[in-house]
Amino acid sequence: MSEVSEQSRRFNISGSLSVVAGEGGLTKIVIKASGASVGWTAKAEIYLNGATVTRYEVDGKPVLFCSRTSKFEVGKAIRGGVPIIFPWFGPHPTDPKMPQHGFVRAAEWKILNTARSSSGVATVVLGFEASEATRAIWPHDFALRYTVSLGRRLEMALEVTNRSNSEFRFDEALHTYLAVSDVRNIHITGLEQTEYADKVDGLARKRLDDAPLRLTGETDRVFLNTGAVCRLHDPARSEIAVGKEGSLSTVVWNPWDKAENLVDLAGNQWPGMVCIETVNTMENSITLMAGASHTMKSTLHLSSRGYRRAY
Ligand code: BG6
Repeated sequence: MSEVSEQSRRFNISGSLSVVAGEGGLTKIVIKASGASVGWTAKAEIYLNGATVTRYEVDGKPVLFCSRTSKFEVGKAIRGGVPIIFPWFGPHPTDPKMPQHGFVRAAEWKILNTARSSSGVATVVLGFEASEATRAIWPHDFALRYTVSLGRRLEMALEVTNRSNSEFRFDEALHTYLAVSDVRNIHITGLEQTEYADKVDGLARKRLDDAPLRLTGETDRVFLNTGAVCRLHDPARSEIAVGKEGSLSTVVWNPWDKAENLVDLAGNQWPGMVCIETVNTMENSITLMAGASHTMKSTLHLSSRGYRRAY
C-alpha cells in the first residue's frame, strides 16, 4: 500500500477530511466544514511538507495567497499559505550558511490525529520531533504539535515542548500570506502606536502613529510587544481578522518589486498578497524551561458580510 493510501486508511473522516496526493505528488490533507443552518462552507488544505496550510476558503472565496510559481518539492518551502518558522526567524543569528527561517518549513511532518466535533469542526494534529539531523544544526530536544481546526474560522495552534534537560530559547512564526485585491489599496488596523523594527531600514526602531498601516513600497516590519488583533481592510473584499494568543510580535511583509528576484514569487504576483505573521522573535523570543510547553495560536476569521464586490 502506498504511503498516501495508508495514511488515508488511518486518518480519513468521511465527508470532512481526506489524505490525498497533492502538487508534485506531495501528501496533502483536504478538510471541509459547513454550517448548514447558517449557510456557509469552508475548505482548507495542508501539506505535510512543512505542515503548510496552503488553502483556506469560505464560500469558495480564498483567504490565503499561494504563489502560482511555488515549488512543491520535498525539502523546499512552499511560497504561500502559512509556512511554520522555527526555531529562528530570518537569517540564523550567527551562521549565514544555515537556512533562513529555521528548518521545519521544509521538513516532512507526520499526521498524529484527525477528528470532527459534534458541531462539525474538523481538526488535524501534525507533529515534528527532534532527530539526529535537527540536533546537528540545533542542539536541543523538542517536539512540535500543530493543531489546525476548520470551522467557519481557521485556527492554527503551534505547541513547542522542551524535551531537553536544560532551557532553550527559540523564535517562531505562523507566516501567513493573505490574498488581497491589490496591496497598494489595503490598510491594516490594530498596530497603531506600536513600536517596530524596520528591516528595510537596518532594523531602526520606529513607532506607527495613530493612522492605520498602509503599504507604499517594500515593507518588512517586526512589530513588538503586541498581542493585538489585526484587521485587514480591502476595498474589494471582506474584512479579515487575524487574532492571536501566545504571540507578542507581528510581522508585516510585502517585498514589492523585489519579488521578481524570488523565482517562486515572480511574475508580478506581489500586489496580490500581504503577510500578517503571528510571531515571537527578537525581545519576544520564547525561553522554555526543561519539560515545559508553549503554545502560540493564530485565528483567521473572515467577516460574515460576504465579499463586497464580485471577486
Ligand atoms: C518575512 C521576513 O517574515 O519573510 C522577511 O521578515 C523575509 O525578511 C520574508 O524576506 C520572506 O522570507 P523567505 O525566506 O520566505 O524568502
